[in-house]
Parts: sequence; C-alpha cells; structure tokens
Amino acid sequence: MDKPRKRLVSGDRPTGFLHLGHYVGSIHNRLKLQDSYDCYFFVADLHMLTTKKTKEDIVESRTHIRQMLLDYLSCGIDPKKSHIYLQSALPAVWELNLIFEMMVTLNRLQGLPSIKEMAKNAKMDEESIPFGLVGYPVLQSADILLPKGDVVPVGKDNEAHIELCRDIARRFNQLYGDFFPSPQVLLSEVPTLIGTDGQGKMSKSAGNCIFLSDDAKTVEKKVKGMYTDPNRVHAHIPGNVTNNPVFIYHDIFNPNKAEVEQLKKRYSEGSVGDVEVKECLIHALNNFLDPIRARRSQFEEEKGYVEEVLYDGTLKMIEQTNETLKEIKSLMGLSGTWNKISRLARDRKEQHAEKFTM
Ligand code: TRP
Repeated sequence: MDKPRKRLVSGDRPTGFLHLGHYVGSIHNRLKLQDSYDCYFFVADLHMLTTKKTKEDIVESRTHIRQMLLDYLSCGIDPKKSHIYLQSALPAVWELNLIFEMMVTLNRLQGLPSIKEMAKNAKMDEESIPFGLVGYPVLQSADILLPKGDVVPVGKDNEAHIELCRDIARRFNQLYGDFFPSPQVLLSEVPTLIGTDGQGKMSKSAGNCIFLSDDAKTVEKKVKGMYTDPNRVHAHIPGNVTNNPVFIYHDIFNPNKAEVEQLKKRYSEGSVGDVEVKECLIHALNNFLDPIRARRSQFEEEKGYVEEVLYDGTLKMIEQTNETLKEIKSLMGLSGTWNKISRLARDRKEQHAEKFTM
C-alpha cells in the first residue's frame, strides 16, 4: 500500500490578478508540490475582512476570486489533484476559530510583529486595530488544522503564525487528547521578484507588475519601459548585469541559457544595446505566458467552469470539515447536549414532541 501523502495547506487573500512575482514566489512551488502532497488551496476571503470589510470590498472580491482562480487553473493547478475551496463557505472554520480563541493568550498575539505590520500596510493606526486582525493567526490556525495540515508553504513574515498554530494544536491535544498534527513551515526558496521599475518588489500598489493575464502587446510595452543599468547611457558603455531587472528576468524566464550568457557578456563589454536585450526578453516572456494565456481563454470561454471548480471543491470540504469538527466537539465533550437538542428540534418539527432532559 502507498504511504498516505502529507497534507499541505495554503490560502490566499483574494487580491485579483496575479503577476510574475506571484508565479515565482508561490505558484511555481505549488505546481511542483501538488504531485507529492495532498494539497488544500483555498481563497482566504475571511482573512481579507481583517483589513477590507466594506460591502464594496466584499462585492469587489467576487471578481478578484474569479480572476485569481483563472490564474491558478491556467498555470496548471489541477482541481483533480488538489482541493480548491472558499474559506468563508465552511461553517467549521468559523466555529473552530472560536474554539481556538480559547487556546491562546492575548499577550502572545499582541507580541506578533506581523499584526502591526499588516495594520500599517492597511493604513490603520494602533488604536484602530480590530480584535479580528489580532486574531488573524488564530483563524489561520483553524484553516491549517481543520484539514490536519502537515506543511504550510508561507513566506518568512508568516513563520511566527505557524509556530502559534503548533502551540494551539499542542494545547488542544493536552486538554482533550491527541488529535492535531504539528504543522511545519515550508519556506519558499525564491526571493521576491523585483518590479519592472527596479525600485522594489513587484506589487500591484507599486504599479510595477507584469500580470499573468497581460497580452503580448502589453508585455512588450512594459518590457520596453523597464529600468536597466541607469549608468549606461550608450550601448557601447560596459553595463552591469547584476541587479539589473532585465537580466534578473532573463535568468528566470528565458530557457535559452546560451542566449542569456551571450547577452550578458556583450552587455558587460558594451557591445549590445538595451533594445536587443529587451527584444529577447519580450520574446522569452511571451513564450512563457502563451500557454498560460491559451488555457486562460479556454477556461474563460467554458462558461461556468471556474464556478464549478470552486463549488465542487467547496462542497466536498464542507462535508469533510464538518466531520472533523464533529470529532473535535466530541473530544471536548461539547457534542452530547448539542446533538440531543438538534435531534429533538427536528423531531418536534415532525410533531413528535419529547421532553428535553440533560
Ligand atoms: N496569511 C496568508 C497571506 O498572507 C493567507 C492565509 C490565510 C494562509 N490562512 C492561511 C496561508 C493558511 C497559509 C495557510 O495571504
């Protein structure tokens, strides 16, 4: 018999279109992992509420969810291999969150630098940090432990959250019996991808992105406008290839290594112009994006496909996590009375009134 596969859990807040930075930082990794792990990928829409909670934000997130899923599917994340679902649709997540809130001190949560960082990014001052944002890692622990996740691929900034998740699991196991695994972080090896402006990491707010859904013309325009070596005002001046965004992208996305080495050599000698280097990059990027674009438009045309993927995955997970929650409540001794009450309520509805006794 095959050894049971380890479970990997990972969620993303619905932020909309994904870009090359997302690809390098997480999608690439997931594509590799989905064959060796039992993967749980979900839309962390409840986590979005910690910083964006107006009705407009929530309505807007629906389009974001769709675009994000289209990006995943067109990159090759396969719903036949991986569970894909919507966090907010699982009642068990909401319930386990409350149970876990009892397993962690406020002090511990308030000591996490990541919460303050998220508040800062959302332009909140310390006084206006909501209770729910402080509880971010508790909710995250519910996400991870409900499917009994063994590994969690996250960035360095989330490492402390996984440690907290282990503490919650340990505390639960101490109180009610051995049930949860002790999840480990799987740090992605890839550093953040620099933006087209060469100023900082690729991010939507900085406006320096190449999106996975950009068409060939848009990619061409963006690459032509990319920053290179600022000291190189003429093609015959020797240029610097390290820290040069155009060459960083060549290294990652151009499979023709001989071409890249040649270009680097000529650039360092001052015997190639930016235009030629960029033309080669445009070619490489469009080659890389073409199959992704083709699958994207195929999924877009197949009306209702994305919705179906999310619906099917979520439905399965509602059942699976409800079962797990039942076991959790039963371990805690929470289930007996509740089961009885709900059975009686059902029976009463059917006109078989019975007196409730504890
Ligand atoms: N914290 C993740 C982010 O930065 C989102 C997330 C929510 C998550 N729950 C998770 C990641 C569980 C991994 C596992 O967007």
